[in-house]
Amino acid sequence: MDSLALLDQAQATHHLQEDDLLQLIEDQTINDALFAAADRVRQKYVGNEVHLRALIEFTNICRNNCLYCGLQCQNRAITRYRMDPGQVLHLAQQAAQYGYKTVVLQGGEDAFFTVDRLVPLLRQLKKLHLAVTLSIGERPRADYQAFKEAGADRYLLRIETTDQALYEKYHPGMSFENRLRCLRDLKELGYETGTGILVGLPGQTSRSLARDILFFKQLNADMIGLGPFIPNPDTPLKDAPAPQLTPALKIMALTRLLLPDINIPATTSMETLEPNGQIKALQSGANVIMPNITDEKQRRLYALYPGKNTAAAGTPLLYRRQLEARLKAAGRSVSTSYGGHVSKHSTP
Ligand code: 5AD
Repeated sequence: MDSLALLDQAQATHHLQEDDLLQLIEDQTINDALFAAADRVRQKYVGNEVHLRALIEFTNICRNNCLYCGLQCQNRAITRYRMDPGQVLHLAQQAAQYGYKTVVLQGGEDAFFTVDRLVPLLRQLKKLHLAVTLSIGERPRADYQAFKEAGADRYLLRIETTDQALYEKYHPGMSFENRLRCLRDLKELGYETGTGILVGLPGQTSRSLARDILFFKQLNADMIGLGPFIPNPDTPLKDAPAPQLTPALKIMALTRLLLPDINIPATTSMETLEPNGQIKALQSGANVIMPNITDEKQRRLYALYPGKNTAAAGTPLLYRRQLEARLKAAGRSVSTSYGGHVSKHSTP
């Protein structure tokens, strides 16, 4: 079928076959039409509100060695830090004061943060009437359950790629099966579950990206966060080709077409590649932004990829005010609700 007809079909039915996705990923003549279709679907299902989530990067200590990531345990070029629970709580209190309704606790896989240390913190955070999202990697099911019972609402764990061979190549010592197990456990335990991928990993094919999108649908994901892979000079993938924004925007837009009512952030990595990258993303299917409220000094050490922190410099309050103005200028408003996933389309 002709690519524009496929776009019409996706917009109407929210279904595409793998080969159709492949065709749309590879056809570079339909990009603007794809972004416009995703923008319409976003508007129809989740409206003009943008949900802001306050991001707290609370530890950059990680036991894993993901070859693309600046926090990989073999990277000796960065100083490691870990906030104490009191500092996390303090930042969350600030977030609530600034008007955020969600805090996201993101960190490396740091063994210090046991269930016994995190559960009391989660209970404190819930007293602030915030939705709490965790993004702390792979854990046993019992841990996920304890966090859920303590009040955690949502969990982010990117699959990174569904190409198992590529996954295992870039995640030494980790298993693809365990990652899937984690995502299934999170879903079963009732978390709003977010996953996502890196776009542009060396060796990644258009077909595997098409399969990634179908995986999001199959998992019945509530949130999808994806962005361009940006080579980090302190990692083994430092010499990979220069990153590009458009392929990531395309995968994001296709994700919106197939999962019309989910939450999709315009990621920091998109803003890093292009000054207006996040606004562009919001006009191509995204409806969430995750402003970083981590203190400057620690944020600089949370060095996933180069340029991450120049994209959103300034104090958290100033940044939020400027963001609100930019969103307004783009015809979007800031949501004052929790902004959880509201199902408006079921995947048979
Ligand atoms: N470029 C872009 N994104 C990266 N991440 C890790 N390293 C990089 C990189 N070099 C992403 C991963 C992870 C998320 C927290 O950051 O997808 O899940």
